[in-house]
Amino acid sequence: MMSISQVRNGVIDELNRFNELFESVLSHDDFLLNEVLKLIASRKGKQMRPLLTLLCAKVFGDVNQHTLLSAVSLELIHTASLIHDDVVDESDERRGLLSVHKAYSNKVAVLSGDYLLGIALKNVALTGSIELMDLVSLTSQHLAQGELLQLDINSKNLSYEYYMEVIKNKTAELFSACAKAGGMSVGCDTATQEQLSRVGEYIGICFQIKDDIFDYNPNSKIGKPTGNDMKEGKVTLPALYALKQVESKDYNDIARLIQQGEATKLDIEKMRVLTLEQGGIEYAYSVIKDFADKAHQLIDAFPQSKVKASLHDYVEFVCERTV
Ligand code: IPE
Ligand code: IPE
Ligand code: MG
Ligand code: MG
Repeated sequence: MMSISQVRNGVIDELNRFNELFESVLSHDDFLLNEVLKLIASRKGKQMRPLLTLLCAKVFGDVNQHTLLSAVSLELIHTASLIHDDVVDESDERRGLLSVHKAYSNKVAVLSGDYLLGIALKNVALTGSIELMDLVSLTSQHLAQGELLQLDINSKNLSYEYYMEVIKNKTAELFSACAKAGGMSVGCDTATQEQLSRVGEYIGICFQIKDDIFDYNPNSKIGKPTGNDMKEGKVTLPALYALKQVESKDYNDIARLIQQGEATKLDIEKMRVLTLEQGGIEYAYSVIKDFADKAHQLIDAFPQSKVKASLHDYVEFVCERTV
C-alpha cells in the first residue's frame, strides 16, 4: 500500500519551504482573526494539492518562489472552500476536530473563509503572473459552480454525467490547476501545461470518487463524518450505479427524496443496502482505475526525472488511500 510519506519523499525540502510560507501568511494582529488563523494553521490536512504542484514543477525544473506562491494560493483556496463547505453541508467535524463553524459560528466561518480567499489573491499577485491570476480565478469559479450545481435540485438528475459534471467542477478543476501551476512556474510550454492539467483533472476525479466511497464505510478514520452524504442530499457514484442496475421506480423515488433532503433514516438505509448489494462500491473503484490509468499513461510520456516515479506514486496513493 502506497503511503503519503513515500510520495512526499521526492519533495521534502520543497514541502518545508512551502509550509514556512503557508504558515507565515496565517497570522494577523486582530485577536479573533488571528485565533481562527492559528486554528487553521494547526491542522493542515494532507496537503495533497501543494504536493501535486511541487511534484509537477520538479518533474520539469526547479521549484522556485513562483511555484511556492502558486501552491500557497491554491491551498488557501482549498482551505477556504472546506470551511465554507462545512457550513453548506452542516458538517461538524474537519481534520479530526470541530469544523470552524462548529468551533465558532457560521458568521466566523464565512468571514474567515473570505479572508483566506483574500490572502490567496495577494499571493497570486506576488508572482506578477496574469496567467496564474486567470487560472486561479477560473478554478475558484468552477469550485463554487460545482457546489451550487450539487445544491440545485431543479436541474439535478440521477446520472453518471451529472455526477461527473459536479465532481469535475468542485474538485477536479482544483487538482488540475495545481498540476498546471506547477508546470507554469518552471516555464513549461503550453502543450506540456495542457498535459499536466489533464493529469491533475484525472487525479481529482479519482480523489473525489474515493472520498465518496469513504462515506459508505462507518469505520473510515478520515477526520470527518461518514454516512453523511445522503443526509446532505448527495447521491454519489456508488448509489447511481445501483439505481441504474435495478431500474426501480420505488428506488428512484427514494433517491429523489434524498436529493430534496426529505428522506427518512429508513430511506437512506434502504439506498445504502441496495448500493452495497448491487456492487456500487466495486463499480466506483473500477471507474477510479480507468481514470488512474489515463493519468499514468500521460505521466509515462513525461521526461525521465528524479520525481517522475513520485508522480506515479501520487496517483497510486490517491486511489488506495485510507486517509
Ligand atoms: C477534502 O479534501 C475535500 C474533497 C475534495 C473531498 P482533502 O481530503 O484533500 O482535505 P484535507 O486538506 O486533507 O483536509
Ligand atoms: C468536496 O465536497 C469539497 C469541496 C469541493 C469544498 P464534499 O462535501 O464531498 O467534501 P467533504 O467530504 O466535506 O470533505
Ligand atoms: Mg462536505
Ligand atoms: Mg465528501
